[in-house]
Amino acid sequence: MPTSSAWSLESWRTRSVAQSPVWPDDEHLARVERELATKPPLVFAGEARRLQEHLALVTQGKAFLLQAGDCAESFDEGSADSIRDKLKVILQMAVALTYASGVPVIKVGRIAGQFAKPRSAPVEIHDGVSLEAFRGHIVNSEEFTPEARRPDPERLLTAYHQSVATLNLLRAFTTGGFAALSRVHAWNQEFVANSLEGKRYAMIADEIERALQFMKACGIDLHDDSALQGVDFYTSHEALILPYEQALTRRDSLTGDFYDCSAHMLWIGDRTRDLEGAHVEFLRGVANPVGVKVGPRVDADELRRLADVLNPLNTPGRLTLIARMGQNRVAESLPPLVEAMRDDGRDVVWACDPMHGNTFLASRGQKTRHFDDIMSEVSQFFAVHQALGTWPGGLHVELTGDNVTECLGGGSRLAEDDLDLNYTSICDPRLNATQSLDLAFHVAEFLRDYASDSGATSL
Ligand code: PEP
Ligand code: CO
Repeated sequence: MPTSSAWSLESWRTRSVAQSPVWPDDEHLARVERELATKPPLVFAGEARRLQEHLALVTQGKAFLLQAGDCAESFDEGSADSIRDKLKVILQMAVALTYASGVPVIKVGRIAGQFAKPRSAPVEIHDGVSLEAFRGHIVNSEEFTPEARRPDPERLLTAYHQSVATLNLLRAFTTGGFAALSRVHAWNQEFVANSLEGKRYAMIADEIERALQFMKACGIDLHDDSALQGVDFYTSHEALILPYEQALTRRDSLTGDFYDCSAHMLWIGDRTRDLEGAHVEFLRGVANPVGVKVGPRVDADELRRLADVLNPLNTPGRLTLIARMGQNRVAESLPPLVEAMRDDGRDVVWACDPMHGNTFLASRGQKTRHFDDIMSEVSQFFAVHQALGTWPGGLHVELTGDNVTECLGGGSRLAEDDLDLNYTSICDPRLNATQSLDLAFHVAEFLRDYASDSGATSL
């Protein structure tokens, strides 16, 4: 078995690298890799270990994972306002989920490094002209010209620098008062008071208000208690461009383990999870928490082998399985996989990505998703776990804080004719802020039902 051979920083290079761009100049790429390898790490090993401890709680049903952000970050859109608004909506979702579930919500952004995209076809053809597919701003640019589509290694450095700036701002926002519980709650009250979809959730918001009043009455100062002033916020992205990931991997001086310091958590996409492939090989050797996207084509044996390779010691919190089945398939495809992990006694996090199995083209060709399909997949995901007595550990979604018109439906009943009003995603369609909150409050209701039906303590 090749996977049992020794791991090194370079061992992935002997494997087949799915979804790799064809870099036009290997020497240029090698120069950039050497330069990146001299840069400071974006995150620290101790932070990644802390996230893994939090995820270990999720495997025991004692916490819930919220992983969210852009499908693909853009080099043209790293403004402070857009980062702030994305963080704001994630924090708002987390407060609703925390209250309903009664457990901590672990917040992980698809942010500060989510620049690379796998594609279903390596080339794109228009009017007889064939060009390399757009693979995310870390590789090339989306305009349909030969210059824009040419993979450029300098982009790895731009991705690094934009990630540094984004992470710096996130660290400031999450510790500098912006994320204070009372503030996030006030934003939720605004959502409930001022939007059609918010009104349904007045009851939950009122209950949170009463809980805060109760805490105040008990002498807890909401504006002073440090636990209520800041939040832990972690970063993640798909580990697709392995030269970049390798260059940012460092040996931790405390443990001697290798950590990929480009993000706290890395995941392997549904198109790159080949057991013998380069992506699985690289990630098996780094000690960060890792995710794997699990589509409807994975069977229980394959999942077992993936878990063996990526988490041979069954370390709780190391492995998150992100199911992205599609609302038509989830009821049939998910149960055998959850059962297999449960019956083997594997301590994995199960998260639901209700986005990637529910994408379709609208009649005028825009990529979209319907809010009802997204809700349907989430509710079936919960039903599967309820039936099997396992913990529906998390939600993985593509969203933005901007008022975009990319996904259909939701309380404001966005229709196909509205899609062009403000469609700015450079890849997949994202939920806008209102749709995201609508989803979070729905999931909060599921979580509450789940907790009361299963007597959450038995988990
Ligand atoms: C993604 O998360 O943007 C993605 C491409 O997902 P998947 O690998 O599940 O298709
Ligand atoms: Co996507």
